[in-house]
Amino acid sequence: MSEGILLAKVARGTLLPEPERVARLQAALPQIEAVLEGETDEVAVQATLACLLWETLPQANWCGFYRRVGERMLAVGPYQGSMGCLRIPFEKGVCGACARTGLTQRVPDVHAFPGHIACDADTRSELVIPVTVKGRLAAVLDLDCPHLEGFSATEARILAELMARCFPPDPGL
Ligand code: SME
Repeated sequence: MSEGILLAKVARGTLLPEPERVARLQAALPQIEAVLEGETDEVAVQATLACLLWETLPQANWCGFYRRVGERMLAVGPYQGSMGCLRIPFEKGVCGACARTGLTQRVPDVHAFPGHIACDADTRSELVIPVTVKGRLAAVLDLDCPHLEGFSATEARILAELMARCFPPDPGL
C-alpha cells in the first residue's frame, strides 16, 4: 500500500471541533493498523506513524518521535514538520517530562509549562505520549499544535492505545 490514508483533506493548521477530530482519528485507526500489520522494524513503524498521524491530525505543526539513546537522553527520530531539536535530556521540556515519568503529558498551553522547549515559536499546545517496549521507555511520540488546547484527553487516550498496539512489549520475534 502506498497511497497514505483515506480522509477528507483539511488545511494544515486547522483545529477542527473536538468531536470531528476524534471521529477522524477513529476513521484513521484501522487504516494505520492495516498498513503496519506485521511490521516489527522500529524505524519503519515510527516513520510510517509520523507520516500517517500527520495526515490524520491537521492541527499538528510537528508530529514525530524522540528515541531514547542513553540512560537519560532522547534524540530526534522520524518526524513531519519544521526542524526539531536534535537532542532532549530527560531533565528538559515536555518530552523530557514524559520520558522521566513514563506518563502522557498533555499541555494545553505550553507557555504555562515551565521548561518547555520552543523548537517552533508558533507552538501553543503539545501532547507527548510514552512508547514503552519490554517495560522500558523506548521513545516518545511528540505532537505540537499552533492552537491552545490542540489535543483533547480523548485524543490522548486513543493515541496512547495506538502506541501500545504498534510497539507491543514482545513483538513475537
Ligand atoms: N517542545 C518540546 C521539544 C520538541 S519540539 O517541540 C519538536 C519539549 O518541550 O519537549
